[in-house]
Amino acid sequence: MSLKLGVLVSGEGSNLQALIDSIKKNELSAKIVFVASNKPEIPALKRAEKAGIPCQFLNPAEFFTRESYDEAAAQEFLKRGAQLILLAGFMRILSTKFLSYFPGAVINIHPALLPDNPEENEIILPDGTTSKVFRGSSAVKQALEAGTSWSGCTIHLVTEKVDAGPVLIKKPIKIYPDDTIFSLHSRIQEQEHILLPLGIQVWMKKRLTIC
Ligand code: GAR
Repeated sequence: MSLKLGVLVSGEGSNLQALIDSIKKNELSAKIVFVASNKPEIPALKRAEKAGIPCQFLNPAEFFTRESYDEAAAQEFLKRGAQLILLAGFMRILSTKFLSYFPGAVINIHPALLPDNPEENEIILPDGTTSKVFRGSSAVKQALEAGTSWSGCTIHLVTEKVDAGPVLIKKPIKIYPDDTIFSLHSRIQEQEHILLPLGIQVWMKKRLTIC
């Protein structure tokens, strides 16, 4: 039986596309049952439509609170039987309300290295030096501005703390002196596309439960 996936998106959707392609190639035994977006008319929605996946723009302006938005989004996934929710470039913080419907079953893609111990704020890089952990929506920019020699990408479980859940899989990526946000982010995304199906497989094997 294939895993039923729900995907939340906010933009380009290159990771959603990587997932669609990986399922098509039978690299992953899964089915995307619903894609929800917090932004209208984004490429990610067009990618879902093209692949014949049910998708919808859920307008945050139509909800009074974050919790009521998250409740509505969760219900959309639940009614389609989603077992695992993937945040594929979803640029909105989820409330505990949403997480309570999918305990241990919400995964995020983060464009930087996150530590194995979520409490840590420093990480050891492949060259033995240490770097601050870059969390939040500007992680690529933060890594460049800090002048570190390595960044990376991480697939991790989502918990109440932003970008601080258990790591499923991660990959370091070298930063070059002439890198820009665009060039570094492009290389990070190439690796995200490879890591994402692998991260889902790790999750399937572990079936991690966060209580
Ligand atoms: C990805 O690079 C992902 O790591 C990042 O947004 C991009 C979305 O790209 N996510 C975050 O920064 C979350 N804090 P995509 O829409 O092409 O998949």
